[in-house]
Amino acid sequence: MAVNQQTCNSLTLTSLLLAFLLQTCRTFAEELNWDENGYVLYCPCMGRFGNQADHFLGSLAFAKMLNRTLAVPPWIVYRHHTPPYNNVHVPYSEFFQLEALSAYHRVLSLEAFIEKLAPKHWPSGQRKAYCFETAAQRSVDKKSCPMKDGNPFGPFWDNLDVEFDQSVLFGGISFSAHHHLQWIKKKF
Ligand SMILES: *[C@@H]1O[C@H](CO)[C@@H](O)[C@H](O)[C@H]1NC(C)=O
Repeated sequence: MAVNQQTCNSLTLTSLLLAFLLQTCRTFAEELNWDENGYVLYCPCMGRFGNQADHFLGSLAFAKMLNRTLAVPPWIVYRHHTPPYNNVHVPYSEFFQLEALSAYHRVLSLEAFIEKLAPKHWPSGQRKAYCFETAAQRSVDKKSCPMKDGNPFGPFWDNLDVEFDQSVLFGGISFSAHHHLQWIKKKF
């Protein structure tokens, strides 16, 4: 944030487009204020577009329930039969209007979170993964969240240059409103 502010200030000194730039910088800085209430990040790692859309709507509702900002992930498009013969990560805003979601709840793109907020607030070396105990059963030590195990999990987080350093397991809780208070109390 401090760096952005400095850039904005020097721009104002050197440019005649003063008002315009100031406005742009202000909007930019506002968008990237850190939400003290926290964030929800996830990989849309199950299925193709329909499943990912379902996952997205559930995650948006979950983030709203916990009053956290949702970091909206890119869509995973499986282009294995046509070039580039790989997973393609398509920003949410290429298919839909990200800003329009703000009428419902606070959001930003996962890409923006990683680029602008993560270096300061979610630095590598301190990245925790959260998963169900049953998911951790798939890992070798049965205590780690298999965040990057296989496709599309690995390529998704690799594309964002994310490694996870620690795992936090949970159980006996679901993503439904029924467990609202348990989630709030967890303070993940
Ligand atoms: C929800 O989060 C926002 C942003 O962090 C905060 O300003 C607001 O007070 C929170 N609302 C409640 C009910 O906690």
